[in-house]
Amino acid sequence: MADSEYRDGTRVVRAGLPEADQGTPFLPGPTFAAPYHLSGPPESSDYVYGRYGNPTLTRYESALGELEGGSAVVFPSGMAAVAAVLLPRLRPGDVLVAPSDCYMGVRSLSTSHLAERGVEVRLVPTADPGFADAIDGASFVWLETPSNPGLDVCDLRLLIDRAHATGALVAVDNTFATPLGQRPLELGADFSMASASKYLSGHADLILGYVCAREPAEAEALVDWRIHAGSVAAPFEVWLAHRSLATLDVRLERECSTAQALAERLAARDDLESVRYPGLPSDPSHKLASRQMTRFGTIVCFTLPSEEQAERFLAASRLVTEATSFGGVHSSAERRGRWGGDAVAPGFIRMSVGCEHPDDLIADVEQALAVAASR
Ligand SMILES: Cc1ncc(COP(=O)(O)O)c(C=O)c1O
Repeated sequence: MADSEYRDGTRVVRAGLPEADQGTPFLPGPTFAAPYHLSGPPESSDYVYGRYGNPTLTRYESALGELEGGSAVVFPSGMAAVAAVLLPRLRPGDVLVAPSDCYMGVRSLSTSHLAERGVEVRLVPTADPGFADAIDGASFVWLETPSNPGLDVCDLRLLIDRAHATGALVAVDNTFATPLGQRPLELGADFSMASASKYLSGHADLILGYVCAREPAEAEALVDWRIHAGSVAAPFEVWLAHRSLATLDVRLERECSTAQALAERLAARDDLESVRYPGLPSDPSHKLASRQMTRFGTIVCFTLPSEEQAERFLAASRLVTEATSFGGVHSSAERRGRWGGDAVAPGFIRMSVGCEHPDDLIADVEQALAVAASR
């Protein structure tokens, strides 16, 4: 069996590890270095200076590249990865098409910094059937699926083909799905980007991001940007993220099955205004998600009748930690409307299902909903 034929659960455990070498650790510890020993021509060494490269980074990038099916370049945050894709590629007069319901940081970067420099930014809802038509004449298409926080799903292959037909490059934010749930590069995308601050690291303890490019030349351009912008991740974070990658499949297995069970329980209630989870056969995203994703994810969104009830739910839960972000082993949730940037109802909750025992977690959510409804 070639390495590429192993299943995800095996690949995440082994990806990026060096060959076995007597007396050395499986995953070598982080290399802390600004300059490296270097005599003579710089080309004679793989590592010359920390901003140009680091063996800890090289190993993690090789693991991510293997999982996404491309060449990975790591950045100190998901937003640094977004900036590395968009800022050097868009010039005055170019047209960027992006979902109006994608991660708010991507939208605000586009409508502030890019629009100010003369880039035309077209924002269209992920689920809008007119999305494909909005792509005509675009220079760059940004996609995110499932969308954050609405959990709408777009047809990646259809939109990527449409973008390529008009000569546009395409990047997909794969943060929600992870490379174990969806492989945008296999569907033709030029870039698959993700915030590794979420599932990839999975323990709510670091900030990191990456971009995987289908073409090695695009990866080289990303490295060039990283060197010039000084957008370099620290070795300790990178090492922690690589260590955590080994459990990604196990964590997702538990989290996705609990998310499915929770979504089904919530959908059976009559006191919620809506429940969204792509794994529910009744969900508007279900058909496309079943075709495109190998897992439905760990985010369940539901809407209580009012802002007050949603706040009471969050206060009453003991196992759902109130916090922004998602993808960690600890279940967490927030009333998304508190940020003001998303088109959601005041009682809309985005919940990230963690690794707690499913029975404990579901019981806790149900008791918190009962408290929320009781006044
Ligand atoms: C879908 C998505 N993309 C990108 C980002 C940005 O990532 P980071 O916070 O690591 O900069 C986030 C952060 O929440 C996100 O949810």
